[in-house]
Order: sequence, then C-alpha cells, then structure tokens
Amino acid sequence: MAEIGKDIEKAASLLSSGKLVAIPTETVYGLAGNALDENAVLAIFKTKKRPSFDPLIIHLCDIEKVKEYVREIPEELALLAKKFWPGPLTLLLPKRKAISDLVTSGLDTVGVRVPRHPLTRELLQTLNFPLAAPSANPFGYISPTAAKHVQDQLGKKVPYILDGGTCEVGLESTIVGMEQGQVIIYRLGGISVNHIESVVGKVLILPQSSSNPKSPGMLKSHYAPRKPMVLGNLDELMIKHRQKGTVFAVLTFSRSIPEVPADLQFVLSPEGDYDEAARNLFFAMRALDNSKAEIILAEELPEINLGKAINDRLRRASAK
Ligand code: TXA
Ligand code: MG
Repeated sequence: MAEIGKDIEKAASLLSSGKLVAIPTETVYGLAGNALDENAVLAIFKTKKRPSFDPLIIHLCDIEKVKEYVREIPEELALLAKKFWPGPLTLLLPKRKAISDLVTSGLDTVGVRVPRHPLTRELLQTLNFPLAAPSANPFGYISPTAAKHVQDQLGKKVPYILDGGTCEVGLESTIVGMEQGQVIIYRLGGISVNHIESVVGKVLILPQSSSNPKSPGMLKSHYAPRKPMVLGNLDELMIKHRQKGTVFAVLTFSRSIPEVPADLQFVLSPEGDYDEAARNLFFAMRALDNSKAEIILAEELPEINLGKAINDRLRRASAK
C-alpha cells in the first residue's frame, strides 16, 4: 500500500525519478507525474484507466514558470490569472513544444494551473519540471478530497501520497479558455461564474460532451458513485421509493429529513453556505455510496455562486 506522509523531499525525489505521487491541492487530490517525462505521463493514464483522448492539466508554482511552457497568454486570461492564481482556475493556453502531445491528447492548447495548497506549492518550488496531474480517482469515479480516499482506490498503484488534509474547495478547478476573442468556461468549478465575469465580463459557458473532442473530454457520466443516483424532486422521489420498499439515502443542500435515519442522509450545509456545500459534496457522495442504501436520492441547489458547479457534478453523477 502507498505510504501516506508529509515528506516533500521524498515526494520530489520520487517524482524526479519518474514515479507518480498523489498530491493535495485546494480543489481535489491529484495523481502527479513529471509532465516532461513521457513514461510518467503514460503511467498516469494507465493508473487511472483514463482514455488517452482525455488531456491532462499541468501544475506550476507561478505565472513566470507558466510562460516557459505556453506561447502566449491572451490579455483577458492574464487578468484572470492575476486575480485567481494561485487558486482553483485552469487556463487553456497555446502550448510550447516542451509539452508533449501525450499530455494534451494532441491538442495545441495545454491546461495550466497554479494551485494554492501550501504543501504542493512548496513541492513545485523544489522541482524543475511541471507536474501533470488529473484528479487522483479511477476514471469516472468521484474525485478524492482526502488522502484516505486516494489510499482506498489507488493505494496499490502509487508509492506515496502527500497528505495535505482535507481539500479546502472540494470541487475541481474552473477551466477557462478563449476562442476568437470570446472567453469560454469549459468546466464549472471552484471559482464561480460570477467571479470570472466580474473580471472579464460576460462569458460563454460551453456545454461539455464526450462527442466534442475539442471541449474538455468530460464524459456525461462522471464523478459517479457506483450506486445509482437520482436527481429530482426529493419529496416525490422519497414517496416513490418508500412505496417500492427500496433502501434509499438522501443528499440535501441544507434541510435534514427527520424520518430518514442519520446514516442514510447527508446535509451538505445546514446553514445553506455554498462553499461549505462544495467542500462536502464528494465526501458526501462517497459516504452514501459506502452506506447500506441501494440508491442515492438528491436534490439540486439554487443556481447561484458555487451552486451551479455543484449541480453540474450532481447531474453528471446521476447521468446513466
Ligand atoms: O482542480 C483540478 O483541476 C484538479 C487538480 C488535481 O488540479 N485536476 C483535475 O484534472 O480535475 P482532471 O484531469 O481530472 O480534469 C481536467 C479536465 C479534463 O476533463 C480534461 O479533458 C480537460 O481538463 N482538459 C485538459 N486539458 C485540456 C485542453 N487542452 N483542452 C480542453 N480540455 C482540457
Ligand atoms: Mg477528474
């Protein structure tokens, strides 16, 4: 099993010798490898069982380093970088040759992020290469927000997990790029649409699908628990499943359901706080997936602040 610890030197030396290390970020844990080492990049795809057409993002310690790997940063995206880096923002930028086609699945752009978790920032500062890192979950399953989640699922396949505690944001980064002068959000994430728009004005939100290889290769069914999950009017869903006699679990935004046993429900934020709900989302989905329920019933949040991104994950998790 993977060792779990806080040893940055150990993580750096493994990464420098081409091995993979799971790293904490403020969004979710990443499965990291040297982005300039093709064998390490291939190992990432293999370990996650991720299809090769789904590109990886690279992580660097600051924007000066980013400039070594991209040809240009359009003005609007530079403003976003200035405002939100380090933080949960990934920019799609034209790549330089040093970044292999394996990383970008043949695309001319590379996803780049400057994460803000202190341990990973320190690690990146000691390395002389970028870290390619997708979320550290088996392809299609819920992203990990604690070292233990990685241990449970990829523990046999990675030598070391750098333990940075529980992820502060809990949702993956917001992915932003530009086409023909238009700023586009390709994945809703840890920075809300209104925060992005407060910097660059109105943006386009591009619906993601697996049939459009130019948009992030996010399949519709993604972030999914193994158990079936249904999203809709919770009261109606509960009546239906009570009549059928199914053992169900419920996932709500802020209300608790008195008649459902405590181990079969998860309230994302009793105070109705969107950041707290985001932080708890994947943890809650995992907990209910590991409960004795046969099915998970969930309700959407209001489409404001991080509610949009949370709903996106709930819809993908319940798409079958
Ligand atoms: O918060 C995050 O972004 C986390 C942490 C570990 O940094 N990483 C993450 O990586 O979520 P991953 O691989 O699970 O998701 C990245 C998404 C994928 O859906 C991929 O298709 C898309 O980004 N992507 C990466 N490079 C792209 C590119 N050049 N063009 C379009 N989509 C890209
Ligand atoms: Mg992922």
